[in-house]
Amino acid sequence: MTSRHIVALGGSLLRPEESEKRREWFGQLRQLAVHLEGNERKIGIVIGGGLPAREAIDLAKNCISSSEKLDRVGIAATRLNATVIQQILLDIGCNVAHEIPHTTSQSAELLEQYNFVVMGGTTPGHTTDAVAVALARDAGARTCIIATNVSHVYDKDPRQFDDAQSLTNLTIDQLAEITGIGEPLAPGASAVIDPVAVGWAKDACIDLAVLDGRQISILEQALDGQPFDGTLINS
Ligand code: UTP
Repeated sequence: MTSRHIVALGGSLLRPEESEKRREWFGQLRQLAVHLEGNERKIGIVIGGGLPAREAIDLAKNCISSSEKLDRVGIAATRLNATVIQQILLDIGCNVAHEIPHTTSQSAELLEQYNFVVMGGTTPGHTTDAVAVALARDAGARTCIIATNVSHVYDKDPRQFDDAQSLTNLTIDQLAEITGIGEPLAPGASAVIDPVAVGWAKDACIDLAVLDGRQISILEQALDGQPFDGTLINS
């Protein structure tokens, strides 16, 4: 079986503030896709909601208090972002599934046929980190790459603590002590990794690679199975 790789691309990566950086990032992502396809790799990509998710959830919060309903608003935004990436890959002629699957089992099936499957969220109660872990499990991948806008997992929140230390290797239980495990985040809340994803990775023995997706070269190293600048979490 051709090796399968699963990548969660945080929604914030799609919207670097400067337009020049945005062009550069999309250009490098397209080059990486061509390189991966040339090497007969199969990639499941799960896209986060980023800014549109947070804006839409904030808008809906004016009238809605149900977490489930707010999560559904967030899911719609992740699927919008997934469509952007799917159409970009189609535009450069990659062999990409034409639909945005609603379930990870459907994505895993589509990966049999296509080199790329792009999806967003699935159901309320977790983020796209957890979707990517579930897709890794369903597609038979051992590792799930979480490409986000921080370089590493830290021992504490670096935005709050100046002495926060970046970590390069962790066990899943050590990660769970930092992030919590199993408890869903509030709709639109941000965390380095969703605690639900940590629980699912532990249950399915999926390793996690957390890295800075703003630097496509680091993502490429992790996809190539090379040492990468980031945090490797062994399940
Ligand atoms: P994201 O996966 O985008 O959350 O889902 P995030 O961790 O903030 O990721 P970034 O910032 O894009 O990297 C956005 C929201 O959509 C809902 C949740 O409310 C989540 O907070 N969601 C997403 C679900 O309920 N289920 C899903 O499968 C995915």
